Amino acid sequence: MDKRPIGVFDSGLGGLTAVRELRRILPGEDIVYFGDTGRVPYGTRSRETILQYTRQDLGFLLSRDVKFIMAACGTVSSTYPAEEAARLPVPFLGVVEAACKAAAAATRTGHIGVVGTPATIRSGSYARLLEQLMPGVQITARPCALFVPLVENGRVQPGDPVTTLVAHDYLDEVRDAGVDTLIMGCTHYPLLEPFIREVMGPDVTLIDPGRVTAAAARETLERLELSSGRSEGGTAEYFVSDTAESFDAAAHLFLGRYAGGPVTQVPIETW
Ligand code: DGL
Repeated sequence: MDKRPIGVFDSGLGGLTAVRELRRILPGEDIVYFGDTGRVPYGTRSRETILQYTRQDLGFLLSRDVKFIMAACGTVSSTYPAEEAARLPVPFLGVVEAACKAAAAATRTGHIGVVGTPATIRSGSYARLLEQLMPGVQITARPCALFVPLVENGRVQPGDPVTTLVAHDYLDEVRDAGVDTLIMGCTHYPLLEPFIREVMGPDVTLIDPGRVTAAAARETLERLELSSGRSEGGTAEYFVSDTAESFDAAAHLFLGRYAGGPVTQVPIETW
């Protein structure tokens, strides 16, 4: 049993889709969230820059004495090397594995779509693992560079004309390719689910990486005997690299009572 908090991080707001699920299925765990709101987006940057940012994010979370770290970010999960993660002093979980396993379990036709940031799609992370899990799988992958800025700018109200246009521009070809399952390979994308659903139609299974990875996090905590042992009363604390006010307003807009807790700005480039 371990009462230390779980550390969760993302380039910005997207990781809150994982926090929401963690709060639901692990209500007795304390959570420390870091959103790099001052440097979002990550997914259009070089590998070197993403690695530098990731190491600073990890350094900050480790300074908060976390017992486990979840990278609630498809871009970080696709870029940060497994060998480096294995050397961290606490277990580390990214979102790629759980999302691929969920997609492999869901597909009936063996044709899976993957959307993500340019860095994620360029890395081939989802495609590689899907091919290992399901030899012969057919994959249609598409980078969607504008989705993260649209979310961070609050263009998520159903029917928003700009987001609708962009969603069609990116996803029409993925739908027309005939996928029956789509990995929303970036944790921001579930906030655009109504737009993605509208383009893909009712029959395509959408995989939310934060949600399925939260379930994997619970299993990992249990397996490693790191659970808090409490069934309720967990707290949430939020840290951001841009102002606390802008995060608070946006987080409420997206996630309602997202899991109230104090929000503090930190100078992340000093970690
Ligand atoms: N939520 C991050 C991800 O899953 C967004 C990355 C970005 O900032 O571009 O990829």
